[in-house]
Order: sequence, then C-alpha cells, then structure tokens
Amino acid sequence: MSGNEPGPRPSDEELAAMGRDDLVKLGGQLDGVEIVDYPDPWPVKGTKAEKRAERAVALWFLVAALAGLAFVVALIWWPWRYEPRTDESAHFWYSLYTPVLGITLGVSVLAIAFGALLYAKKFIPNEVAIQQRSDNMGEGSAEVDRKTIVAHLADAGDRATIGRRSMIKRTAGLGVGALGLGVVALPVASFIKDPHDNADNKDGLVHTGWQKQHPGEIVYLRRHTGDANEVSLVRPEEIDAGGMETVFPFRESERGDHEALLHAVRRSDNPVMLIRLRPGDAAEVVKRKGQEDFNYGDFYAFTKICSHVGCPTSLYEQQTNRILCPCHQSQFDALQYAKPVFGPATRALAQLPITVHTDGYLIARHDFIEPIGPGYWERKS
Ligand code: FES
Repeated sequence: MSGNEPGPRPSDEELAAMGRDDLVKLGGQLDGVEIVDYPDPWPVKGTKAEKRAERAVALWFLVAALAGLAFVVALIWWPWRYEPRTDESAHFWYSLYTPVLGITLGVSVLAIAFGALLYAKKFIPNEVAIQQRSDNMGEGSAEVDRKTIVAHLADAGDRATIGRRSMIKRTAGLGVGALGLGVVALPVASFIKDPHDNADNKDGLVHTGWQKQHPGEIVYLRRHTGDANEVSLVRPEEIDAGGMETVFPFRESERGDHEALLHAVRRSDNPVMLIRLRPGDAAEVVKRKGQEDFNYGDFYAFTKICSHVGCPTSLYEQQTNRILCPCHQSQFDALQYAKPVFGPATRALAQLPITVHTDGYLIARHDFIEPIGPGYWERKS
C-alpha cells in the first residue's frame, strides 16, 4: 500500500483518544490525501506587512459598512417622490434616487466580497496536497467522518487566524450588519412609503393632466397642430361621423405659456383618443356601469395609453369600431367602453368624461376616474 492510499480505520477507543492534529491527519489518510506543504502565510507574527494586509481587509469591510448605511439613509430620506421637470432642481435630485440606491447597495455588496477575497488571499494558508486516484474511498463510519471533518474545519479556522484579528472581525461585523440592515429596510420601507398617500397630487400615478387644478376650472380638448404655441380647440361639428382625433388638455391659464403648452402635449398620460361613432353604431353602445354619462352624444374619449404595457393605442378602425394597439395587437371595442376583445390586454381603456361648454367647445368634465395604463399591485380597477 503506498503512503497516500486510504489507511486502516481506527477502533472506537483509538478514535476517542485522538487529538485534533491526529484527526486531521487521519482524515487525510482515509481520503488518500498527502499534504506536501502547508505554509503559514505570516510565519513571523506582527510584521508591518501583516498589519498592512490586515488594515486593507478592514478597510474594505469599513467601506461596505459606510455604503450599507448610506443605502439605508438614502432609502428613507432621499427625495423619492416624482418631481416634474417644471422644477429642474427638484427633478434632478429626484431622478438620482434610484441610481443612488443602486450604487450604495452595489458598493456595499462588492466591498464585502473584496474584503473576503483579500482575506482569503492574505491570511488563509494555501496547502499543497496530493490525492491519488483510488476506488477505495468513502467507506468510513459516520463517526470517523464526522470527527475528522470537524477537526479539519477547526484546524482550517485556526490557520486562517480570524480568531486573533479583532480589527477585521469588528469591521466585517459592521459591514455585514449594515448590509443586512439595508436588506431588511428594503421591504419594510416599501410598506411605509406610500406613493399614493397624496391622492390629489396631479403628478401622481392616479391623476393625469386632465385633473382640474382648482374647482370650476375648464379643461378643454385641444388638438396638436405641430406648433405647441397654437391652441386649436375642438368643436363637435369639426369631426365627421366615424372620425377620430387625438386631443390634449388645455386651460386658459396656460395660454401664451410656451412651457406649459409644450408640457401638455408631451406629458405621457395626456393623449386621449376622441372618437365620433357613426349614428348607426352609436345605437349599439354598451356603457360601463358608473360611466353612463361619460360620452357626449356620439363622442367618446378614451386614453391612448394601452392597458397592457402602456404603448399608444393609436389606431381606430371605423368599420369594426375597434381600437388597436400596435405593440402586441390588443384590440378594444369602442362600442363597449373600450373593453379588450383580443390580445394580451385585460383591462378596458380608461374613459374620459366629456361634454360641451357653453362656448361650443368640447371639455373634460373631470379627470379619469381610474389610473390609466398598465396595472400595478395597489391599483383597484
Ligand atoms: S402595449 Fe398594447 S398590446 Fe401590449
């Protein structure tokens, strides 16, 4: 039998009398492993180089701790509510919210990984061992295996010297603790921070630019001519039966205000499809419960934002009264409150309640009564 072939198994008495070193050797012998070299990376203790290496590892863990704490602070206190571009500065800080969370959490995770890698490289001895190919493996008793493995792990722990490196232990605890705090804070924060708690916020998810900014405000339907400064309001007689027009909100307070007029046609949740049904088709309309008076005669207004994943549903087919979304081919029936009749969309397009003002122009009676576009988990409709 060669030296590195599996050796004989000890009796229970011999096993009980063995110390840790003997058990480590025995574990190797039983597996046919011969340790050729097992050098201590720092044979002379307390050298400047060793202390430098220790500080480098601790520094990574410290970085992990600081980044983890920064993540928690940013998660709670960074301005996270949507800020429209009308306030550039507020919008700038808001727009950094997600990148800051990603960077701080990423740095924390990476710093812990670098610290652990550096520790393994600098302080854990690299053993050189030879194991011969053998068919005679894995026949040990559970007790021998358990004891030799425990001894081997304890020996590896001792040789890794973590026990006597208190600076590394403390900073590693700090880093992992801060990261753990961030991971726990993540789900907790999403229950505390409610983006919908200010339900009247016109820039929130549940409102669009059609929301009145004060009671009694008139919000007109306006077509976009290509020139944001040109205000072209819509009269019912301007649209033929079976016709469709894309309209945006307009309020007199915005007249002459280039920024506001531009924002109204650019804001993604503003476009509305104004449809005039043919008289014969209008007689077949099925109205949605609670929205019986949302139309004005043959005129129906639906958001252009698809309820599937938010593409613009820009196509209206006069012959079938179907509204088509080009992204994934969902189809909505304009005669049945734009409910989906084909494709992946599962919700009807939100309907804008409209009427005609005393001056003869079409206006919105109020904002949509449900969020437009795709679903999200707090959504009730
Ligand atoms: S976004 Fe309209 S069908 Fe997918």
